This record gives sequence, C-alpha cells and structure tokens, in this order.
Amino acid sequence: MEQYLIHGGNSLVGEVEIGGAKNAALPILAASIMTDETVHIDNVPDVRDTNVLMDAMGSIGIIINKENRHRVTINAAGISSTVVCDENIKKIRASYYLIGAMLGKYKHAEVTLPGGCDIGCRAIDQHIKGFRALGAEVILEHGMIKTRAEHLTGSHIYMDVVSVGATINIMLAASMAEGKTIIENAAKEPHVVDAANFLNSMGANIKGAGTDVIRIKGVQKLHGSDYAIVPDQIEAGTFMLAAAATRGDITVKNVIPKHLESITAKLLEIGCEVMEQGDQVRVVCSRPLRHTHIKTLPYPGFPTDMQPQITVVLGLSEGTSIVTESIFENRFKYVDELIRMGASIKVEGNTAIIDGVSKYTGAGIAAPDLRAGAALVLAALAAEGESVVDNIRYIQRGYEDFHLKLKNLGADIKVVDRETDYRGFKLMTG
Ligand code: EPZ
Repeated sequence: MEQYLIHGGNSLVGEVEIGGAKNAALPILAASIMTDETVHIDNVPDVRDTNVLMDAMGSIGIIINKENRHRVTINAAGISSTVVCDENIKKIRASYYLIGAMLGKYKHAEVTLPGGCDIGCRAIDQHIKGFRALGAEVILEHGMIKTRAEHLTGSHIYMDVVSVGATINIMLAASMAEGKTIIENAAKEPHVVDAANFLNSMGANIKGAGTDVIRIKGVQKLHGSDYAIVPDQIEAGTFMLAAAATRGDITVKNVIPKHLESITAKLLEIGCEVMEQGDQVRVVCSRPLRHTHIKTLPYPGFPTDMQPQITVVLGLSEGTSIVTESIFENRFKYVDELIRMGASIKVEGNTAIIDGVSKYTGAGIAAPDLRAGAALVLAALAAEGESVVDNIRYIQRGYEDFHLKLKNLGADIKVVDRETDYRGFKLMTG
C-alpha cells in the first residue's frame, strides 16, 4: 500500500495548473453513451473515479479511446448490454449516472448500487423519485438498482433536498423523455451547469441550469459533440488553502474565479490576500490568520467538499472558529487524525469547535476519504517534522498528480511503499 511521506514546514510558492472537474467529468462521460455518434471530451481528469467509470462503460461494449491523457473519444453505437455489475463500479458514487443515461436512451438500466466516500448516509431516494415521476419502474434488489420504462414522459418534479446527483440524473433521463420536465429546487453547482451544457451540445434542450428551476424539453435523438470539461473548483480550492496552511504564495491557474467566490471570501476574512486575474487566482498568506465561522451549503454556499481543508487552516488560525457541516453528517472523521497532530478541535454533532494552535506536528495519519485525505496532506505540509499519510488511494480518486503538483510548489513529499521498503531493507540486511 502506498503512502505519502511528507516533511512539513516549507511554505508553498509558485504556480499550479488545475485540471478538469471530476464531478463534471463523471456525468459527462456517462451522458456520452446517449448517442450512437462519436463524442470527444477534453480536459478529462486522469483520476481513479473517471478511470473506473470508463472501464465499466468499456465492459458493456462502449468504445473508449484515449487520444491523449485528457482527451477521450467515446462511441456507444455497439453497446452490448444495459446491465452494469462490474465489481469496481460499486466503489464509485457516480455509477448512478449510468442509470439516468441508459434509462433516457434505452429505457432500461440495471446498475450495482453506488458506493463512494463514506461521509454519511448517501440516499438515492430523490433519484428514484425523479425516475418514477418520468414513468419508469424502479426496483432495488440483489444490490442492484433496476429501472425500466415503456416510455418516459416529462413531469414536474420538486426535489425534497438539493441534490447534485439527483438533479443531473433526472436531467439525463428527461433529455430523452417525451415532453417537458421541470425540476424545482435543483442543485446549482458548476458541474450541474457543465453537464447541462454538454447535453445541450449533443442536441438536448435544457434551460435554467445554474438556477433552482431547470426546464427540459425532451428530444428523440442526441448527436455527437466535441466538448471541454470545466476546471475543478475543488482541486483549485484545495491549492488555495494549501497557500493558507503553509503561509505560502500560490497562483492557481486555469480556473473560473466565480466558482471559487465562497472560498475566496473566507480566505479574505481570515487574513489572506487573494488576487483574481483572468483565469487565475493568487493567494498570499503572509500574516497570522484569524478565526471565522463557516457553514457548508449547496452552491453558491461554502462547499462541503472544502470543509476538511478549511478546518485544517482554521486549526492554525488565532481564536475559536466554528465549522458546521450541513450536507453530510459523517464528514468530521479526519478530526481525530488532526488531533494527533496537535490540533485542538471538539466535534459536537455536525459542528466542529476549533481552538487555533500555533503549529501542528508530524504524525502517522490515515486518509478516511478523498477530501479529508487531501486536507490531512495540507496539515502534514504545514506541520513540523515528518508525517506518513496512509490510504492515499482515496486521494487518488479525485486529485491528479497531487504530490507532483505539491512538489512543484516546493513541498517535500514523496510516494513510498513502506511495506515494500521494509521488505527490501530486510533482504539487504537479512
Ligand atoms: C456530489 O455527491 C459529489 N459527488 C460529492 O463530492 C459532493 O460532496 C456532493 O455532491 C455535495 O456537493 C459527485 O458529484 C460524484 P448530493 P452526491 O446528492 O450527488 C442528500 C467528492 O469529494 N440526498 O448533492 O452524492 C444526501 O444524503 C464527493 O468529490 C438525499 O437525501 O451528493 C446529502 O445530505 C464526495 N437523497 C445531500 O442530499 C438523495 O436521493 C446532498 O447530496 C440524494 C441526496
């Protein structure tokens, strides 16, 4: 098992290029199977989740060619099955997008129930409610979600909770339903907008994505497209917070600053300088940081996917900060690891009360999930001494070349395989 070995204490300085958004790439890859024509997608991040999804798509006869590391060509004309029970697909949440896409085009889909990061109860009732409202039969059995429809018919759907996945999934299926669908209380995240833009580039008729009411006029057929995925707002935010955690100066390039406003606002509030210019944002942290209060909310609120990273920074900021997690109840699991590094944090229900300390110290820590894993890396980079971060496979689900990008900014980080290294050592000495 690989780990990151980190010697903390270096201020990170320099420029970093942000890749395509994982959470936009996943629905867009799935949506590409809704046409028999060829689709070209650029800016696909080379991370574990996108690769697992493409492998699963390959397992049902969809032809996927990588033109280069970030550009893929997909042709689904030879699809051989609408049943996906690939063992690996269980591990990713976004397997559910294959349901909306296949239901829309083929009126049938059977997919292994989604897994993903263990960050709390991850219900799919709103997805099911949406599919049923469009006229599909949906059953859950033997670990699979099975759905079928004679016809899909547009409907008026009110989402009981704001859900990124359910909004996109209903949009996928409704794009090829007969008549009009209205989704109320829709999620507004940039990746929802990107998925809608991609579907529209294939001939769908979706209006209002990015607001809380999305209107879709179903079409009979979608066609090929050539599309580039938006930059990853969470990868960008993570590097912005790396500058704050390490008292550094990082220019984050190839971003849409508008998507980062909630993060920028908090960085300014705690005492960082943030300068936006065109498609880049520079974060400079040269003063002691101050405390603040944060509550995670659906976009444009502060993203739950940035909660662990900002907590790491607030743990090093003067005074008492309060972070409230309102999206996923199980997203403070990393706090125990941070405490082992010297943080002073108390979690009560969905709230973390953080008393800033002057430094963290290196320790052996384990990533409990993707974003918390990235946050612990930031803590280790800021800490005095050596840290070993375990379970980095979680981080590799969503960050491409994370350690290389950090190294480029001056971090002392490398990937090691302690077990192998240890065995090698025994062989040499034994
Ligand atoms: C997406 O998950 C992202 N994943 C998550 O990113 C992100 O944390 C989350 O949106 C919130 O922004 C992908 O895009 C693949 P939701 P998703 O449906 O779609 C409740 C990362 O680190 N809910 O918006 O699963 C749910 O329990 C990952 O990249 C229902 O009650 O999230 C949660 O409280 C982790 N019923 C809230 O809604 C449903 O049917 C938001 O979940 C669906 C959701």
